Amino acid sequence: MNRKLALALVIFLLGAGSASAQEITFRKDIAPLWHAKCSVCHNDSAPERADFLLDEKGFEAKLKGPRMDTYERFIAFVAWPDTGALMRRLDDGTSPNAGGKPGNMYQNLGSTDAERAANLKIFKAWVGEGAWNLNRWEKRKDVAAVTKDQLDKIKIKY
Ligand code: HEC
Repeated sequence: MNRKLALALVIFLLGAGSASAQEITFRKDIAPLWHAKCSVCHNDSAPERADFLLDEKGFEAKLKGPRMDTYERFIAFVAWPDTGALMRRLDDGTSPNAGGKPGNMYQNLGSTDAERAANLKIFKAWVGEGAWNLNRWEKRKDVAAVTKDQLDKIKIKY
């Protein structure tokens, strides 16, 4: 093999192994999962987050959570203003500050432990390595406010 060709091959393989093949994106991975597992209660028949907050109990009784049917709406529950909400609700109870209890949306991730674990892994990878933190924007009880360092790790690629 001549050197130019060998070099081209190395570059190609490096590229294929990193970002392109495995990167978790909203469009490719999260949206389909959301459609399958979350949409019934969080679709366009659900209230916008701000409206939801005006009458949480009322909407909850109707099995309506806040609307999260687009990328923009969805990431509000990861980064801001509802910092860490996605992580708190989907956690399996093993993260720091989870108190050993799964979040109340964890059960919606699948019908078996294996399915829930596999889907949680996808959400975690999408949020980003080191970014799966249950902290809120502001300190609450003995849980510290989210730090800039933690926020910097958030990936949530479209
Ligand atoms: C059977 C209906 C239902 C399904 C399915 C469901 N949710 Fe929910 N979700 C709700 C309701 C109702 C609330 C509001 C009550 C509460 O806070 O628990 C809620 C609240 C939430 C919140 C908190 C929002 C806030 O205001 O902080 C998040 C985040 C969330 N859901 C994510 C998800 C995700 C992700 C899925 C899919 C894996 C999902 N939910 C599936 C009904 C559902």
